[in-house]
Amino acid sequence: MDVYGLLGNPVGHSLSPPLHEAAYDELGLEARYVTFEPEPEDIADAIHGADALGIAGLNVTIPFKQDALKIVAPEDLATRIGAVNTIDFSGSGPPTGYNTDAVGALRALRDHDVTVEGARAVVVGAGGAGRAVAFGLADAGATVAIANRTEPKARELAADVPHATGHGLTELETLVPEADVLVNATSVGMEEDVSPVPADALHDDLAVLDAVYQPLETKLLREAATAGATTVDGAWMLLYQGVEAFEIWTDRDAPVAAMNEALRSRL
Ligand code: ATR
Repeated sequence: MDVYGLLGNPVGHSLSPPLHEAAYDELGLEARYVTFEPEPEDIADAIHGADALGIAGLNVTIPFKQDALKIVAPEDLATRIGAVNTIDFSGSGPPTGYNTDAVGALRALRDHDVTVEGARAVVVGAGGAGRAVAFGLADAGATVAIANRTEPKARELAADVPHATGHGLTELETLVPEADVLVNATSVGMEEDVSPVPADALHDDLAVLDAVYQPLETKLLREAATAGATTVDGAWMLLYQGVEAFEIWTDRDAPVAAMNEALRSRL
């Protein structure tokens, strides 16, 4: 029996257990996925303890993604993003840390036939999600404009990301009409039916990914659809960060359709 899990605090409403267990069921794997809520001061002991117990892999979520980076041997992309969300214990050396949020966003876009290579991308948000998406898009060959409410944070992030520029939100009016890909990596649209992007900037040559998945149909995605844009909801990004973690841990192709169904039936 392989044991996988999620480290976070809180983790009560996580969708990761059903997402991963759907994959184990589909492939007939003897595995379980459980959640752990260590106290912040115990995070290093928790990760080393998981390794000692033979746990096969862990996902890491708020507030431990930055701490985990210092405890494991991170991959280059995770180091540059500054956060680890997936730990693999299968090697003989120290556990390896990955950031599958970046690849999750790319795979969500590619699943919808969106070309990222050479695209002009706009990322709204410069927090944890914005960092991951900006590095992912840049590594895949897009030029990235990062727009954030707190503009200096966008400029700081842009200085770290290849071929990126930093902007305030008011510049979305001129950035988005020129863009091929737009990603909302803020929490705007979650609590209230509001959009971080002016509707009249959206257009039919644009693909829009909203990282918000509650609700699935945000105001941004509704307005993007009205403008004729390709829309990709936040469940796709959530799905593919899990798919990517599953594939790192098991070296097998994930049963994406079964995982997608398990996730969407709970949203
Ligand atoms: P996460 O890890 O989910 O990205 P975060 O690091 O707290 O969370 O970042 C939240 C992002 O949403 C930030 O880009 C934040 O903008 P600021 O850097 O200016 O705080 C953005 N955000 C949150 N609420 C917002 C709002 N009401 N309007 C615009 N941007 C908002």
